[in-house]
Amino acid sequence: MKILGIETSCDETAVTLIDASGNFGDNFKFDILGNALYSQASLHAEYGGVFPNLAKREHARNLIPLLREVLTQSGDLKAAGKNDVLFSAADELKVILNREPDLLEAITGFALESGTPNVDAIAVTVGPGLEPALWVGINCARALSLLWNVPIVAVNHMEGHILLSMMDEGLQRHVDFPLLSLLISGGHTELVLSRSFRSYERIGETRDDAAGEAFDKVARLLDLPYPGGPEVSRLAAEAREYKLPTHIAFTRPMLRDDSYDFSFSGLKTAVRTAVEQRRPLGDEMKRMIAREFENTVSDVLVAKTMRAVDEFGVQTVVVGGGVSANTHIRRELSEALAQAGNPANLLIPPPDLSTDNAIMIAISGYFKAKNKWYSDPTTLVATGNLRLA
Ligand code: KG4
Ligand code: ZN
Repeated sequence: MKILGIETSCDETAVTLIDASGNFGDNFKFDILGNALYSQASLHAEYGGVFPNLAKREHARNLIPLLREVLTQSGDLKAAGKNDVLFSAADELKVILNREPDLLEAITGFALESGTPNVDAIAVTVGPGLEPALWVGINCARALSLLWNVPIVAVNHMEGHILLSMMDEGLQRHVDFPLLSLLISGGHTELVLSRSFRSYERIGETRDDAAGEAFDKVARLLDLPYPGGPEVSRLAAEAREYKLPTHIAFTRPMLRDDSYDFSFSGLKTAVRTAVEQRRPLGDEMKRMIAREFENTVSDVLVAKTMRAVDEFGVQTVVVGGGVSANTHIRRELSEALAQAGNPANLLIPPPDLSTDNAIMIAISGYFKAKNKWYSDPTTLVATGNLRLA
């Protein structure tokens, strides 16, 4: 089954075409026929975070060029004639894209030069994320669905992160349940328990800032560019490499708390206070603060994950979301499991697939399309705070 994935929930515009078949846990496999991604991160850098209207505009600008690239890679971009539906669908297309004039123009141009590609379903992220950004992807999917006469499946972005973590080089990895997902991204920090494939039960979440958001805010305090995660992590690694002394200690927030919830906003304030007390900040001090911050976040994430692993007899631990690219957190979690002698399998995608992409959306979409869980294009809505459970 050929699934076109579209992801526009945050500041990455991504399009992928996969060919997937089989059932999870049995004979599932997929090939990536085409994949293209444009990261807007550098554009948002001057705002120190993602600026929703800029994200929306950039998605609208880049989706069709990325689609063209994907269909060129897959050999589906047919130069032959124009799309025969275009003429009869022109009015409806205008309605669908009435808030996206740039996209309307791009799609019309695209349809004039390409026929209908070999696609069985379009998978699009409907949440969680920034609603103006999500709408661009949804409306693009609706327009393509009309032009190609192909159904749409609505995908939850967080499920995309989880399912992608279960895949390895096109095949599923061996996965035993219960499975625990530690989802750590710019907008989310949660622990989700799956007792079977595609069942989700949230056992804990952040009460304020998400882990990635904390990295991004601390990066600003240290005068580092957005996205802050990789930058803060680089300084922290340097502090470890140079064996800098440990003059700073932050409290591990909610470490002793009975719940599986997190809180990172107090930590951000502690970093701000540390920065203000030590101004002007030299490079060494920045490295020390970054290391202590990263250690603090990691200690809390690892401790709560390990506690849940014990309590629920977890067989597989999945880490998903942009912060899972963090090498320190990866290492600490894997060492904690090893030290506890826990045989649970730890699954983390390679760093380039940890951050947002459309492969994860296409994979999630496949498992829905296979069951014909299609969405009515006219009732699709962007849901900023869409829940997994
Ligand atoms: O999943 P993602 O790409 O987008 C969202 O859905 O939010 O996650 C982006 C977040 C950003 O906050 C970014 O700073 C963080 O992931 N991030 C990292 C690292 N790489 C990206 N945080 C810590 N360490 C990293 N290496
Ligand atoms: Zn994400």
